Amino acid sequence: MIKGEIVLGCLAPHPPHLVYADNPDENEPTSEGGWETLRWGYARLARKLKTIEYDAIVILTPHWQTYIGTHFLGCDSFKSLSVDPIFPNLFRYHYNLKVDVELSEKMCEIAGEAGIITKMMRNPDFRVDYGTITSCHLLNPDWDKPIVTVSSNRNRHYYSVEVMNEQAQALGDACRKAIEESGKRVVLIASHSLSHRHFTTEAPLPEDMSREHIYNHSQYVWDMKVIDLMREGKMQEFIDLMPEFTEQTMAETEGGGLTWMMAAMGMPNYPAEIYGYQSVIGTGNVVACWDPDEETREMVL
Ligand SMILES: [Fe+2]
Repeated sequence: MIKGEIVLGCLAPHPPHLVYADNPDENEPTSEGGWETLRWGYARLARKLKTIEYDAIVILTPHWQTYIGTHFLGCDSFKSLSVDPIFPNLFRYHYNLKVDVELSEKMCEIAGEAGIITKMMRNPDFRVDYGTITSCHLLNPDWDKPIVTVSSNRNRHYYSVEVMNEQAQALGDACRKAIEESGKRVVLIASHSLSHRHFTTEAPLPEDMSREHIYNHSQYVWDMKVIDLMREGKMQEFIDLMPEFTEQTMAETEGGGLTWMMAAMGMPNYPAEIYGYQSVIGTGNVVACWDPDEETREMVL
């Protein structure tokens, strides 16, 4: 069998605001726009994705939280209405997605062999989290590829960011091995923001961009520091800094997504492509990708 490979890794934040601002048919609320820097960046990365041949998307999201082990979607399809618990005024999205169960089972099996506690999610009525839906919608609005969602184990809460960082790397190594054995070409997504302090009140018009800015300057400085490391291809250094960055900015990296993706991709030492940075309700968000193919890797921003 041909050896499978990871053809792209995307850091794809999931504020429901971005889907709301896009006004797709699947989402019930409508808006007058907003957050264009991120949405236009996403649109450009989505165009790049269209030029790449791949079989499936594997996404790790901090909004499917599991307290015992790591879980993997295990039914052929899921269809329902996803309502954001904090922002039901912005996000009521009708989804109907397909799952690559074969790949999901392979990752579950190999991770289990590596000593990680795992479980397949076989409940057909399971509601897929909005992180999966938002990141996948913005990167592939046609939903024409099967996905696999990997849950975020809460070892950051049980133990520490250090333990999260170690375990997410072990999971990333296992997922890479499973993808290689599957013979498939796979796109990875780490679905989360960077700094994650956010406002606790909402503007009367949520998309009023005169109200949008980073929560505070230290969050901004941290975000720029880690984006510089991405640009310079110093991902090992970023992963080493992860505990401090995550503690100080309440970053959504706490769910393990970026650490998992970087480990699966062999800790890239080449520059990331940066597609846009912007605040959403005060949080810091970057759209970025790691293209292992030197021929197609670009300097975007
Ligand atoms: Fe989130």
